Amino acid sequence: MKADVLLGLQWGDEGKGKIVDVLTPNYDLVTRFQGGPNAGHTLEFEGKKFVLRSIPSGIFQGGKVNIIGNGVVLDAALFKAEVEALEKSGHPLTERLKISKKAHLILPTHRLLDAAYESAKGTSKIGTTGKGIGPTYTDKISRNGLRVGDILHNFDEKYKAATDRHKEILKQYSFDCSSLPEIEKEWFEGIECLKRFELIDSEHFINNSLKSEKKVLAEGAQGTMLDIDFGSYPFVTSSNTICAGACTGLGIAPRSIGEVFGIFKAYCTRVGSGPFPTELFDETGEQMRKIGFEFGSVTGRPRRCGWIDLVALKYAIMLNGVTQLIMMKSDVLDSFETIKACVAYKIDGKELTEFPFDIAESVEPVYAELPGWKTDMTKMQSEAEFPENFNAYIQFLEKELQVPIKIVSVGPDRAQTILR
Ligand code: GDP
Ligand code: IMO
Ligand code: MG
Repeated sequence: MKADVLLGLQWGDEGKGKIVDVLTPNYDLVTRFQGGPNAGHTLEFEGKKFVLRSIPSGIFQGGKVNIIGNGVVLDAALFKAEVEALEKSGHPLTERLKISKKAHLILPTHRLLDAAYESAKGTSKIGTTGKGIGPTYTDKISRNGLRVGDILHNFDEKYKAATDRHKEILKQYSFDCSSLPEIEKEWFEGIECLKRFELIDSEHFINNSLKSEKKVLAEGAQGTMLDIDFGSYPFVTSSNTICAGACTGLGIAPRSIGEVFGIFKAYCTRVGSGPFPTELFDETGEQMRKIGFEFGSVTGRPRRCGWIDLVALKYAIMLNGVTQLIMMKSDVLDSFETIKACVAYKIDGKELTEFPFDIAESVEPVYAELPGWKTDMTKMQSEAEFPENFNAYIQFLEKELQVPIKIVSVGPDRAQTILR
């Protein structure tokens, strides 16, 4: 059996949480392989709305095992808050959730370091989510990190050594650490909460599950354009968000990857700083933000909005080996007169269709224009109801991207999902 991977093809917030929840009935295991509480995955069903940060989006469907994999970075305090909110709403987790002992811990001082590094960047801030993601992955790579498995033996000693080192760095940045004791208190309560769960060698668990014909879905966080290697560096996150990240973040071999579901919005958004060639600063962008309710699920920041970027999308499809596409938030464009799609970049007078090294301000998008469908699609149940101009948009995209669009989402609810 092979593991399927679902991941974002843009700058995150494509709607991964919703679709993982929709696909979960087809799987036995749902796993997260990278990122941490910088993610905010929204699910809506039966009139309720949930935002997941570290817990996989398969958690609401009974009888499934959800795994936080080794590639994830975990903040104990935020994890506890997430667990409590879910349990309070009647969703028991103890039986459904397992955590890799090799997942790295986001320490309270990582959060402070994130803030210190950002403030030292002056006008070139990345606009991180402030959750300590960069400093935690930095410690992992420089072999200074602490892992979930470390909480089981002599943890206080290891914690002290790590945070003493961080405090020295924070001193160099003259960073005010007065909030630390309070954050630490919550965080250590979080560590106790973590101990309630089964801490496992998830690479063995997942590979054994595959061997015994169990179906595994890997849920990406962030998006391909935020990948540490291939995203719009340095305005990226600190993990490999691409399909290869599922191999390192779960311990599964490349040949054990099956379907790769690539998910994108019918337009494009980005939160935080960094280049965004198709960004709109006009009334149209404002309309996308308003209709699509484009505000960060983690930070509440308004998301930057723009037209779909096929140069970036083709790049993402190539990097991930996408086998099926999923188009989200089509309904947000329901009222638009004209739909635009960026088919090339113009740089110094030359047209490019291959994603370049740098997409700085000088990139001018070249657009194809299609007529809007001007129809409310939010209550549609099947492809047969799609308006003609919407079908034309899908066909145009499939021709450009050379991958079939198998799912179309027409609203935030689980039920507003159309399979093709
Ligand atoms: P994720 O991080 O990829 O899981 O995406 P987010 O949850 O951060 O952002 C997606 C937002 O769009 C959430 O508020 C979803 O409830 C919402 N959403 C998902 N699919 C659709 C859709 O098809 N139409 C509309 N209007 N909203 C959607
Ligand atoms: P989901 O999984 C959108 C962005 C931040 C910032 C950059 C680096 O919900 O799609 P970080 O805190 O990771 O060091 O921030 O990455 N970012 C996201 N943008 N969706 C996300 O996750 C994101 N996670 C991080 O805004 O620009
Ligand atoms: Mg999100």
